Amino acid sequence: MNDSIRFLMCAPDHYDVDYVINPWMEGNIHKSSRDRAVEQWHKLYHVLKENALVDLVKPEKGWPDMVFTANAGLVLGKTVVLSRFLHKERQGEEPYFKEWFESQGYTVHELPKDLPFEGAGDALLDREGRWLWAGYGFRSELDAHPYLAKWLDIEVISLQLVDERFYHLDTCFCPLNGGYLLYYPPAFDFYSNRIIEMRVPAEKRIAIAEADAVNFACNAVNIDSIVVMNKASEELKKRLSAVGFEVIETALTEFLKAGGAAKCLTLRVTEPVREEAKAYVPVESRIMRMEGHLLDSGLINRALDTIVEGGGSFQVLNFNLGEQRQSTSSADVKVSAPSHEVMEEIMTLLIDLGAVAPPQEVCDTNLEPVIQDGVAPDDFYVTTIYPTEVRVDCQWIKVQNQRMDGAVAVTRTPEGPVAKCKLLRDLKVGESVIVGVDGIRTVRKTESREQRNSQEFSFMSGSVSSERRVELVVEQVAWELRQIRDRGGKVVVTAGPVVIHTGGGEHLTHLIREGYVQGLLGGNAIAVHDIEQSMMGTSLGVDMKRGVAVRGGHRHHLKIINMIRRCGSIAAAVEQGILTNGVMYECVKNNVPFSLAGSIRDDGPLPDTQMDLIKAQEEYSRLIVGADMILMLSSMLHSIGVGNMTPAGVKMVCVDINPAVVTKLSDRGSVESIGVVTDVGLFLSLLVKQLDQLTSPYPISQAV
Ligand code: ARG
Repeated sequence: MNDSIRFLMCAPDHYDVDYVINPWMEGNIHKSSRDRAVEQWHKLYHVLKENALVDLVKPEKGWPDMVFTANAGLVLGKTVVLSRFLHKERQGEEPYFKEWFESQGYTVHELPKDLPFEGAGDALLDREGRWLWAGYGFRSELDAHPYLAKWLDIEVISLQLVDERFYHLDTCFCPLNGGYLLYYPPAFDFYSNRIIEMRVPAEKRIAIAEADAVNFACNAVNIDSIVVMNKASEELKKRLSAVGFEVIETALTEFLKAGGAAKCLTLRVTEPVREEAKAYVPVESRIMRMEGHLLDSGLINRALDTIVEGGGSFQVLNFNLGEQRQSTSSADVKVSAPSHEVMEEIMTLLIDLGAVAPPQEVCDTNLEPVIQDGVAPDDFYVTTIYPTEVRVDCQWIKVQNQRMDGAVAVTRTPEGPVAKCKLLRDLKVGESVIVGVDGIRTVRKTESREQRNSQEFSFMSGSVSSERRVELVVEQVAWELRQIRDRGGKVVVTAGPVVIHTGGGEHLTHLIREGYVQGLLGGNAIAVHDIEQSMMGTSLGVDMKRGVAVRGGHRHHLKIINMIRRCGSIAAAVEQGILTNGVMYECVKNNVPFSLAGSIRDDGPLPDTQMDLIKAQEEYSRLIVGADMILMLSSMLHSIGVGNMTPAGVKMVCVDINPAVVTKLSDRGSVESIGVVTDVGLFLSLLVKQLDQLTSPYPISQAV
């Protein structure tokens, strides 16, 4: 018996499952047996009384969950942080617990209204008293944690709960004497698991399986070497006894129906203060501002989801709802995160959504010098496809050469600072790079509701179309192509050899001849197979007319490569009259620039193929400058490569038979991209047909 340990309990006189505020209560309303509950509670009471002291608080009618005294508050020394229940169903317990604590001489702290925190259900002291583990995600707010640190003067480690069955920290986490920890890892997010692993050495972590977790094995009361719980598997008992703990099982099934067990039914009210432990909370908060059609576009929801899914929590401070349909709304959102690292991740995502740290907060961006050519400072801001502005010398300047996966390099010129997107390898000593997330904003067009709807219709908001929708998409693409051509715009095509294998070569040839294509990007293979087809009628040895392999056909493409090599280049082969039709021929004839990027698997290669990949990337990015649309035809490699260097605002149409490729490209999240899952040969033939129809002065049905 340890009389330095005292618990608070509350007899189950009024206990019942009267409402549903956690998943365990569902289907259990009035299903628990009063007699059995009383009997089970008394057994627990006696077990505890044999090992420690137990105080009682008077049960109150109308507050059935008051038996769960763990939720009364959080005690450390003579200080209590009183609970603020999330649900009104339990808020009425607060004054009774407050009264009890005050009558016992505790100093009671109360959190601001609307800042939920559910006491020792969501906050557990390390048994060595070194720090406080605090849960958030369901019942308690992350923003309550700094108060705990301040009032209790202890380091707080915030853990995010992600499984609603384990809605309180004490349902899945139980610090034990000697620095051991009994817990159920899947109840926590990835980041919290890492924090736990950093604080508790592997040999002290007792991770339990789901079967034990749903029996509330973590909801245990630890007194010295005994651990009291509802039920434990033989395996768990063995593991605990191997490290010196004895499990005492005492059935609490009637309380499980309300989502609680041994630990929930008790509150340890003697928690000695350790002098070494000192307040420290890594919880960070900052305010971000969002503007636009926040509700119409679902932007605010996306932002708030981003915060929570990223492991943070939020408070909407001001929300100015635009009154007219066309007026924009604005909101200031306070974001809290359990650490700096998590905060930076959330900020980056919010910046992508167009959120900005209010300018008065950031005057000058964090700039750090490049100290090694081709290497950015740690913590450099990674660029996106969206037009971006950064604050330098207290003003916003536009970032040039926008593309994703770069860094923002800032140089000072007599005309003022210049910011450019640069690839890591292009960074030079003498430049500075934007680091962190302050003073960075992405500029999103605020479209009106009408604009957005019409655009979404025409480009189906980055969705992947099924076969049935292919024709519709083809119509739209044809229309766009026609418009771009007629106004002297620019369309770039990336194409893989599949275009040739599927019989799309003649259609692509047609598009080039008719002036719909202003640049062609591909690899060695598209050119080789195109030339093979135009000169030998096969594509990789397969007869394109009959669809069968011809004898010795596998050598064809090598003969072709050899022939072009002899000429010196594709253009030379055209000039010498050796190459007389096909995709590459049309490019040469119509002065459509092309770039062929080499790869490790290339045969030959053709003299035109750029085997220096850095040069090839440069050629590609030069050719897409100013493009209005990029048609990506069945080449994962080249399409993704091009996608990476294309800023938002360029329409991308990705056609591939493999949905994964299409999804990958339309996932860039820009409205302008659309994916079409279909055979590329078929797509091209439909496209050409559609274009001819548009071009002809009469609708096809009337044409003879
Ligand atoms: N029905 C109660 C609720 O949902 C159960 C509380 C369990 N207590 C605990 N510390 N986990 O609030």
